[in-house]
Amino acid sequence: MTNDLIQATAEHVQSLMQGEPTGHDWWHVYRVWQMAIRIGNATSADITVVQLGALLHDIADWKFHEGDITIGPRQARQWLESCQASREVIDHVCNIVTCVSFQGAGVPDTHITLESKVVQDADRLDAIGAIGIARTFAFGGARGREIYNPDISPRLHGSLRSYQANSSPTINHFHEKLLLLKDRMNTTYAHEIAVQRHQYMTDFIEQFHREWRGEL
Ligand code: ADP
Ligand code: NI
Repeated sequence: MTNDLIQATAEHVQSLMQGEPTGHDWWHVYRVWQMAIRIGNATSADITVVQLGALLHDIADWKFHEGDITIGPRQARQWLESCQASREVIDHVCNIVTCVSFQGAGVPDTHITLESKVVQDADRLDAIGAIGIARTFAFGGARGREIYNPDISPRLHGSLRSYQANSSPTINHFHEKLLLLKDRMNTTYAHEIAVQRHQYMTDFIEQFHREWRGEL
């Protein structure tokens, strides 16, 4: 039953997210799913709940639904109810979908469970490193953002509302979110991977600015 539910959920999410152009496509979900299994196995997390949370975490992201942060958990609940999952599993997975998203530099993360921390770490690892860089420019391009504009400084957003309203150049997103993630990992396992991916991003940003200044 459990494996059937995970398989059916993977197929459902794949059909919904296939080919999405901003880095929130099926392959993002697939990587988060696989990474969540790795992190989950390194902790004592419930691996079924972790897998369902990872698979459903971006089913309906507020970034694509006028900032509505309730739509993801609602769609996850609808799907799991249609599969006759238990009440306990549904509530737990929906809590993960609610808590996963970064809401601004100054907004603390809220977690009730280990499983929610594991899924968030897996999602955040996919936001940094080489893949993170690629996804960020894909997102910025899809939103019509400039790559970089030295006249617009990064801002550390103190609320979800100001983070959502932000439309700054893509390089700013590194300072407003991506470079902060290493120190916001929940598990030691993810933190160790994050340290390497973080270094790769800081090297990239440094090279970017050196080229910009004509030093290379
Ligand atoms: P989260 O739920 O924490 O926002 P997601 O898995 O939905 O994480 O993906 C967020 C990714 O989308 C970011 O890591 C980045 O690649 C991209 N993204 C989000 N906001 C921006 C932005 N303002 N500029 C560029 N990329 C962005
Ligand atoms: Ni995600």
